[in-house]
Amino acid sequence: MRLREAGRGPRMRRAATAVGLGLLLTLSACGQNAAGGGQEAPEGDAPEGGGVKVGVILPETDTSARWEGFDKPMLEQAMRAEGLDPDIQNAQGDEQKFSTLADGMISSGVQVLVIASISSDGGNTVAEKAKAQGIPVIDYDRLNLGGVSDYYVSFDNERVGAIQGEGLVQGIGDKPGAQVIEIEGAPTDNNATLFYNGQQTVLKPMYDAGDLSLVASQAIDQWDNQVAGTTFEQLLTGNGGRVDGVVVANDGMAGSVITVLAKYGLNGQVPVTGQDATADGLSAILRGDQYMTVFKPIQEEAEAAAKLAAALAQGDTAAADAIATQTVNDPEAGRDVKSVLLDPQLITRDNVKTVTDAGYITPDEICGGDNAAACSELGIQ
Ligand code: BGC
Repeated sequence: MRLREAGRGPRMRRAATAVGLGLLLTLSACGQNAAGGGQEAPEGDAPEGGGVKVGVILPETDTSARWEGFDKPMLEQAMRAEGLDPDIQNAQGDEQKFSTLADGMISSGVQVLVIASISSDGGNTVAEKAKAQGIPVIDYDRLNLGGVSDYYVSFDNERVGAIQGEGLVQGIGDKPGAQVIEIEGAPTDNNATLFYNGQQTVLKPMYDAGDLSLVASQAIDQWDNQVAGTTFEQLLTGNGGRVDGVVVANDGMAGSVITVLAKYGLNGQVPVTGQDATADGLSAILRGDQYMTVFKPIQEEAEAAAKLAAALAQGDTAAADAIATQTVNDPEAGRDVKSVLLDPQLITRDNVKTVTDAGYITPDEICGGDNAAACSELGIQ
């Protein structure tokens, strides 16, 4: 699963930095969460309307800053670099909107549809409609279980979970019987299952051996960041206010958990995990409120999706197969789906700089106020 290591050369770093500059524009216009979109096409890309139409539907804005902050501008740029003319929309967590957007794209003549679905059911309905019109479908980031999509582009999501488990154990250190609460992603998102499974490869043997003690594990519908906080608070108070570590599936929900920990004077003492290397997540790591996050170089994911879409728009399945050389099993459909699965990376305080150096987050976004000293100590500038 480490085959993308070779791709992390200087070329990739340049590409990511260029996008980082584009991102900077978006971020300064829209505030720290980068949820506003409106990214201008970077210079040198194919002119609008000039290429083959590709439809992209992203699932949500509120569940993670990644979708509008990273995926949207990076897909836009990567697709234009392939000579495609992308129409990138966000369903805002609304299944009806997801389906309406897809109908609009199909009737507007997109040649390829790229979907990051809210749920497998919603994604499958759309993929079936597109395929009935002869439009190839790529599942982006989230695999639609029981689905019909032609390809899948994502990260090794069990590995993401394993990194979270390893990070938690590292953060807890030597504390026999440490009490752990798990706040997991949406049950309708296959990724949430994979993250959980990956975490358990590390944690379950430790629970079984009594090295760690599981207080409760709770999945959060629709990755709702607020609900994650209220759920965590109930579990914490139900456990007499005692917790030694919190597995949280992403940075957005981790932010809510940290707010609750702060309310009880526990922030900074209890390691919290995350994912997505968002500005808020990295800031919390520098402050000492969050122990780790998972950096998923979305630029690589966007480029793989763009290359695949370009090949499929030409009807060149041999070229597409040469890109998607891995497979994932869809147990519900009973099939192996041709895939690109990229490598995630553990980020703790010591290597936050990796993310700023790669251009995903600017030092400005995370080095303000109390974090200034940490940034200068870590050489983030
Ligand atoms: C993505 C994560 C994201 C989560 C919530 C998952 O499918 O892989 O990166 O944090 O959805 O949006």
